Amino acid sequence: MLWATVDVWPELEQAVLVEASASVRKIGQSLAVGAIAARADWVAGDATIDLDGLGPADLVSAAYVLDEIAPASLPKLVGGLWRLTADTLLVVEPGTPAGWQRILAVRSQLIEAGAHVSAPCPHEAPCPLVPPDWCHFSRRVARSRLHRLAKDADVPWEDEKFIYLAASRQPAPVRAARVIAPPKTGSGKAALKLCQPDGSAGERLLSKRDGEVFKSARRADWGDTLA
Ligand SMILES: C[S@@+](CC[C@H](N)C(=O)[O-])C[C@H]1O[C@@H](n2cnc3c(N)ncnc32)[C@H](O)[C@@H]1O
Repeated sequence: MLWATVDVWPELEQAVLVEASASVRKIGQSLAVGAIAARADWVAGDATIDLDGLGPADLVSAAYVLDEIAPASLPKLVGGLWRLTADTLLVVEPGTPAGWQRILAVRSQLIEAGAHVSAPCPHEAPCPLVPPDWCHFSRRVARSRLHRLAKDADVPWEDEKFIYLAASRQPAPVRAARVIAPPKTGSGKAALKLCQPDGSAGERLLSKRDGEVFKSARRADWGDTLA
């Protein structure tokens, strides 16, 4: 997450990373030296109990962590992360049905605490998806040679499925429908599965007759908003 944050905000000044594992802290520190200009403070601790001494931050994140925490400890962890959040809290989980359920629980807790949902949902109504469907997204990521060897994989990439929630202290300035499945496009047509600002979700078929919206739909990818 530190590397992703610096990609978006190269001017990042300071990051605090709470990590329970000494070996992961050691590897993270050695990878960051020379690669990350921001001051990075690596804190040894259990995020479910050791957050109280930390100061607030504009962006607080927990990526692929909730599935390593006992379910009973999650509300306390999420409450602690939200208390540290001056602006935005980002939680990312594997894009599995179980990961989605964890994100739904985080979403309910944060809305109850007064948070505003920034993304991916364009609303704060209950999630309209019903199992066996589940909300998730996917990004193709490059595999290094080492990564390929470790996974005994043939191709130099993998499609990483994930689900996330961005919650803010501020209301979202605009609410635009979100593309929640790979778009299906054909000549003169685009079928998009959308989560809508009114709290509904479903497929919308657009054609050239829809003018500018159709042009946006043709360009939209899974996970994008439809302007
Ligand atoms: C799957 S890794 C994800 C690391 C990183 N966030 C990323 O996206 O690449 C999960 C990390 O969370 C750490 N972790 C698990 N439970 C923790 C806890 N209670 N407190 C602090 N760190 C924890 C693990 O040691 C591990 O390094």
